[in-house]
Amino acid sequence: MMLGSDKQADNSAALAMDRMYGWQHSFYDLTRKPYLLGRDRLIAALAPPSGSAVLEIGCGTGRNLIAAAQRWPDVSFFGYDVSSVMIDHARRAVRRAGLERRIAIAQGDACSFDPRHAFSTPKFDRIYFSYVLSMIPPWREALDAAAELLEPGASLHIADFGDQSGLGSLQRAVLNRWLAIFHVEPRLVLATELENIAGKRTLSFEIDQIYRGYAVVATLRKPLVSLL
Ligand SMILES: C[S@@+](CC[C@H](N)C(=O)[O-])C[C@H]1O[C@@H](n2cnc3c(N)ncnc32)[C@H](O)[C@@H]1O
Repeated sequence: MMLGSDKQADNSAALAMDRMYGWQHSFYDLTRKPYLLGRDRLIAALAPPSGSAVLEIGCGTGRNLIAAAQRWPDVSFFGYDVSSVMIDHARRAVRRAGLERRIAIAQGDACSFDPRHAFSTPKFDRIYFSYVLSMIPPWREALDAAAELLEPGASLHIADFGDQSGLGSLQRAVLNRWLAIFHVEPRLVLATELENIAGKRTLSFEIDQIYRGYAVVATLRKPLVSLL
């Protein structure tokens, strides 16, 4: 299940990501494994019901989609990313894994793309951002738009760099300087934003800073029945 040439993604974000991943994508998975912590915990927490639809926003090389699709064989997976370099890589990886009938991939910007339309899928039961919000300057808008796609009973999952609350000032300074090279800015106020988004829509949320705040995992849940 591969979508062809999709609507042109937002140009500036796409160009920036293509420039960065143009030379890194081939060794991306190997080098990121030790420090993009919490991704496998996020995948395990998805636990999508049989027959459901799962969407990854900013799917990169397809690493998470492939792991999740192998774990839940009766679920449909969808992913999109702003970078054409990453999309090409993901499509090749999905094909190599023999999962092209269960994982659909498209190109789009998290701030403007409507995945329901692009994937002809009326609803997503699970949506996740894995190490993406820290790379999107208007991350609040991207998160808000994704929360809008939640159906009753659905959940939105996040893994990313954390609030660094347990790190010393030198550790923080070194980490932030290093992350800035990769256009990454940890969202130190993620908890506050989740509270805003949950409050607007009567969702519940959980947030867990792990490894002394190096990373964070969080979940927004939409109740099956509206409490309003
Ligand atoms: C650090 S990588 C994470 C990839 C994957 N989610 C993972 O966990 O391995 C961040 C990804 O977000 C994508 N990205 C950045 N800004 C984006 C945006 N505005 N919309 C969609 N994807 C975006 C990048 O192209 C890149 O593939």
